[in-house]
Amino acid sequence: MKILVVGTGAREHALTLALSRDPQVAELHAAPGNPGIGALATLHAVDPLDGAAVAALATSLGADLVVVGPEAPLVAGVADAVRAAGVPVFGPSAEAARLEGSKAFAKEVMAAAGVPTADPVVVTEPSAAETALDTFGAPYVVKDDGLAAGKGVVVTQDRAVALEHALACLAKPGGRVVVEDFLDGPEVSLFVLSDGTHVVPLVPAQDFKRVGDEDTGPNTGGMGAYTPLPWAPEGLVDEVVARVAQPTVDEMARRGTPFVGVLYCGLALTLGGTRVVEFNARFGDPETQVVLARLATPLAGVLLAAATGGLGDLPPLEWTDEAAVTVVVASSGYPEAPRTGDVITGLDEAAAVRGVHVLHAGTAAGADGTVVSAGGRVLSVVGTGPDLAAAREAAYAGVERIGLAGSHHRSDIARTAAEL
Ligand code: GLY
Repeated sequence: MKILVVGTGAREHALTLALSRDPQVAELHAAPGNPGIGALATLHAVDPLDGAAVAALATSLGADLVVVGPEAPLVAGVADAVRAAGVPVFGPSAEAARLEGSKAFAKEVMAAAGVPTADPVVVTEPSAAETALDTFGAPYVVKDDGLAAGKGVVVTQDRAVALEHALACLAKPGGRVVVEDFLDGPEVSLFVLSDGTHVVPLVPAQDFKRVGDEDTGPNTGGMGAYTPLPWAPEGLVDEVVARVAQPTVDEMARRGTPFVGVLYCGLALTLGGTRVVEFNARFGDPETQVVLARLATPLAGVLLAAATGGLGDLPPLEWTDEAAVTVVVASSGYPEAPRTGDVITGLDEAAAVRGVHVLHAGTAAGADGTVVSAGGRVLSVVGTGPDLAAAREAAYAGVERIGLAGSHHRSDIARTAAEL
């Protein structure tokens, strides 16, 4: 099989690594990829947001499958362009990707499908935003309706901060804001594959969104993740499939916009039961890095089955008994003002640690064969081991070997879970 992966992050590196281990895969390509992905795949300097260019590349390569990683190309219709060119694609249409591209749309689908979530108020006017904030009270939850690169959601006790965010979102062209109740409880990410009809869950993971230890500081794209979740209730996955994923996939099919790809169910386990915090229309980053580290079933056949309506015939997925922990190494200034261009050292030394692999995110090729930072989240260092404590130890041993001036990382990823 020839496969083209679209995207540049550690999630796409994790996907490429898993695909490279599938004996069915003969050739891997990435658009545009990064230096880490370049060790496994041929890189193509194609704009991942340009559907026509991605479709033309897939056709010229004779790709059997295109896997679209990030949300922006999906919302921009890249999967539609590839599908229209007759190439199987793992990733939803632009219309189906609205489950991530519009929070208000996702709420509408959830209401129609009977999916448990916080009741929202969608506002388009500043005065309505003020009224909604006062109706719900603190902690205030304000979500930009559209894609906002991880900066769309503000949860705060401070009404002024909540209002400021709402006004900033409303000031955008066509700006809309979702205000809703705070969902109190531990969060779980569950990825559910769909071929438009059938659903297949992966294993749950947890990520760490705040930049600082003990969940302090601003939100980020994600500073680390782990799986399995020893504290998760029995039956959680079956419950989410039955009450969230299947009804949502059924509702999207009923509307004539079937969801093909991965439905990222962001969940809160509240005292009142499991609730959806958000949907995303793609794999989570950094959760994918740990989920795929445990997948024993070769990945290419699974993604191709999802892309071609074959998930119903797929044998059950197999998983290793191992645990996996990933720690994100972020550049100086992330998330507010990431510095780029710093030389990264220790990549080989980190990867030589038993149970460790290093996935590239914001990296670029520097002079004389060096690798330099090129974004906020620079690396995902993944550790695996027989349990979370061992996986965690491995991941942090890898991180210790990385040199990147001014970098920072959280030191508490999976700490509490590893002590259970
Ligand atoms: N880990 C959060 C996300 O992928 O959106």
